[in-house]
Amino acid sequence: MDFELKTLTRARICAEKCDALVVLVPQLLAETDGSDALTALMAQADQSGDFERKPGKLLQAYRTPGLSATRLVLAGVGEGSARNIKTAVAAALAAIKGSNAQRVVVCASLLNAADAPHLQAALLACGDAAYSYTATKSKPAGAKLQRLVIGVADLGQAKAAFHKGVALVKGIDLAREWGNRPANHATPTLLAGAAKALGKLPGIKVEILGPKEVAKLGMGSFMAVAKGSEEPLRFIVLRYDGADKAEAPVVLVGKGITFDSGGISIKPAAEMDEMKFDMCGAASVLGTFRALAELQPALNVVGLIPACENLPDGRALKPGDVVTSMSGQTIEILNTDAEGRLVLCDALSYAERFKPRAVVDIATLTGACVVALGAVRSGMFASHDDLALALSEAGDRALDLCWRLPLDDDYAEGLKTNFADVANVAGRAGGAISAAKFLQRFTSKFAWAHLDIAGTAWRGGAAKGATGRPVGLLVEYLLGQVGQIGQVGQKPRKAPAKVSAGATRSAVSREPGSAVKTARVSRVAKAPAA
Ligand code: BES
Ligand code: MN
Ligand code: ZN
Repeated sequence: MDFELKTLTRARICAEKCDALVVLVPQLLAETDGSDALTALMAQADQSGDFERKPGKLLQAYRTPGLSATRLVLAGVGEGSARNIKTAVAAALAAIKGSNAQRVVVCASLLNAADAPHLQAALLACGDAAYSYTATKSKPAGAKLQRLVIGVADLGQAKAAFHKGVALVKGIDLAREWGNRPANHATPTLLAGAAKALGKLPGIKVEILGPKEVAKLGMGSFMAVAKGSEEPLRFIVLRYDGADKAEAPVVLVGKGITFDSGGISIKPAAEMDEMKFDMCGAASVLGTFRALAELQPALNVVGLIPACENLPDGRALKPGDVVTSMSGQTIEILNTDAEGRLVLCDALSYAERFKPRAVVDIATLTGACVVALGAVRSGMFASHDDLALALSEAGDRALDLCWRLPLDDDYAEGLKTNFADVANVAGRAGGAISAAKFLQRFTSKFAWAHLDIAGTAWRGGAAKGATGRPVGLLVEYLLGQVGQIGQVGQKPRKAPAKVSAGATRSAVSREPGSAVKTARVSRVAKAPAA
């Protein structure tokens, strides 16, 4: 899908030639005395009461005299919030979906304020509508929609928002795609391959560790989960270096269980297929790196993905087994289905070597979080209030919401055991929190947050599929960090041998509360030693 941004002043809307023209219409539209076909049509629709300008409400027309577009879709946006715009664009594109429309124009020119969040919301809805899963279909239905044009009254302001929106769509698409792939088409090895492909993009470096290296690191907890599968584990290390080497990175850790059967503590058969989505945390890290490569912000980011399958087997770990984690803490495994925390804890210990500014792990960790927050907000836990606030505000800006849950020490009581330093499960009550308390034991060296995306990473039922969440939240959070790093101006560094010298690119990044700014960053020659 190609996205394009173009100027579309009110006077030009009627003359816009395309297969489908979606006009976003706010509740209160500044009156114009225009006598054009669109104004006349809207006036008539208003009089007849046939078009409510509420978000999600549409009025469609075909080959309207005076309009060059084949189809016209008026889409109400209510008071025009970013959320309403997303709803409106989604509804309009869903209405067009069955048609033959190839070139679609979404016109934001009538909006009273079409600033960055509004355009981004429109683009995210376009990206959502345009994505289609084809990887394992023998006769993929060719996507009809080829080109999506966003029309705005003023191009100048919109450019940076457009660039960011397109980067987000690419990141979200990648996360959805890997989330959706069946477990036999998204093994730890294949997931590592997807990460490697990202390593070809500017500023990104990827290193893949296998069972030998992981054993050497002493990741006994991660290895214990992988033991029950024939598929070899992979530990994926991604780096995006956009700032000086001396800048402490943000580390993202994504749960990469490519299939979670529960292991010996096996899950019931119903809906077990959905446990192919148990690597959506990992997919969100890949998607975030995809967006970073596009945006080139001035900061350093590390991505860590412990990837393996959780299967029952003659060699699988058993309830009651005690394993030694990389941190040295011993863990009694009382339930092999609480495997996410077992792979994450070793990745969190590995994160220490980067002396990170902050570590955020992202995991489809607990059914309890689904019960608590449903599919609307991801669960968020944080050891530091400023990190919690930054994540929560980033979620709001990206329309990718989260909600902070508590970390009182009393919630860790149930993790006590007579046979190891800690057990991997507590009782059913407060299950999302005791899981977070388990993880917290491995995060004493840095500011840490945990996103439980069990309810938000995918949808079940007829619309079953990965959502790409929380790529929006993560990218927004990272971009918000740009201005906060110690030094603002960074030294351009030498380009790597493979890339021609002077291969610098201008990049756009946004600081919270400030105007869009352009920064120069260079491709990175060598990742700082881990
Ligand atoms: N991947 C699951 C969590 C999950 C379950 C996500 C259902 C989305 C929907 C995780 O590995 C798991 O099995 N967690 C257990 C923990 C329990 C054994 C303490 C759970 O939530 O049931
Ligand atoms: Mn599990
Ligand atoms: Zn799991």
